[in-house]
Amino acid sequence: EKGGHEYFMLKEIEEQPDALANTLRGHFQSGRIVLDEQRMSDQDLREVDKVFVVACGSAYHSGLVAKYAIEHWCRLPVEVELASEFRYRDPVLDRDTLVVAVSQSGETADTLEAVRHAREQKARVLAVCNTNGAQIPRESDAVLYTHAGPEIGVASTKAFLAQIAANYLVGLALAQARGTKYPDEVAREFAELESMSAAVQKVLSTVDQVRELGQRMADSKAVLFLGRHVGYPVALEGALKLKELAYMHAEGFAAGELKHGPIALIEEGLPVVVVMPSPKGRAVLHAKLVSNISEIQARGARTIVIAEEGDETVRPFADELVEVPAVPTLLQPLVSTVPLQVLAAEIARTRGYDVDKPRNLAKSVTVE
Ligand code: BG6
Repeated sequence: EKGGHEYFMLKEIEEQPDALANTLRGHFQSGRIVLDEQRMSDQDLREVDKVFVVACGSAYHSGLVAKYAIEHWCRLPVEVELASEFRYRDPVLDRDTLVVAVSQSGETADTLEAVRHAREQKARVLAVCNTNGAQIPRESDAVLYTHAGPEIGVASTKAFLAQIAANYLVGLALAQARGTKYPDEVAREFAELESMSAAVQKVLSTVDQVRELGQRMADSKAVLFLGRHVGYPVALEGALKLKELAYMHAEGFAAGELKHGPIALIEEGLPVVVVMPSPKGRAVLHAKLVSNISEIQARGARTIVIAEEGDETVRPFADELVEVPAVPTLLQPLVSTVPLQVLAAEIARTRGYDVDKPRNLAKSVTVE
């Protein structure tokens, strides 16, 4: 049942190309994005003037990634909030607010309470969920299912990638309804999203290199993760995976914040994972990160760099270099997250921990 793998998680990491393809399948028909499981009309989508994404854990990180795409494509303000914080604030919601509740299990108590709170305020609620008929979709106005298949490993992998894809479908549907993107642009974005299955498959061919790196990192005390733009939530997700699986102190930071604190943590030999943007996509972002890496390297950090293949500028600053295929900037999280999943799993395995069932954690948290 583990498909020849020692752990479900490793199998689920390998299933990610299928999880993406299955989540996107059927959602582009006759030149249009179709969210057939959702009971929201184009008119409903046109009226949306603000989006909230509410979720916990990795699902929350999928929302942070989607914020960049939805704001860019739809020119709508997007707030991403931890479900447990959202409901105890007094968030400003009304009928023109779209609340996207992202949950693999569809049973997470905090996310469910956030959904209830949003509906009381008359906001429209769309659930992005991996589990048919779960409570969160039942209580939402509409549902868009991720089709990642059952996820057994407690730490989310394939469901996370599928959530990003589903959130992007919501963004494209909004852009289409609002007319902020021409039909041919929507079609192109969808085709690029579809092509990510093959890109992720390619990343999986670097697994052995990353596992070997993980074995060498297994006795580290702490690991920092840095990223900018969409690489920032990837850094947060990489750190979360390492905490969950390897019980190692790990923190993700926005690279631009280095000088505002995190750089004080850098000491000789500290591993720092850096998620690089494409040198071709956002040249400014790339240059800034190269400068960040040179600064931390000069202070003794051991730099582990996830970069686009052929990125020669970053090579001199990378003590370890993991290459991922060149993809459009907004889609980079789908490739750059994968080595971080493998790294965390391998560090945990080397330390002798149960990768599928980390201590103190449950697959779905049904108490607040
Ligand atoms: C955590 C899981 O407890 O809940 C994470 O270990 C998950 O993997 C988080 O991301 C949120 O769960 P869900 O089911 O709402 O996506």
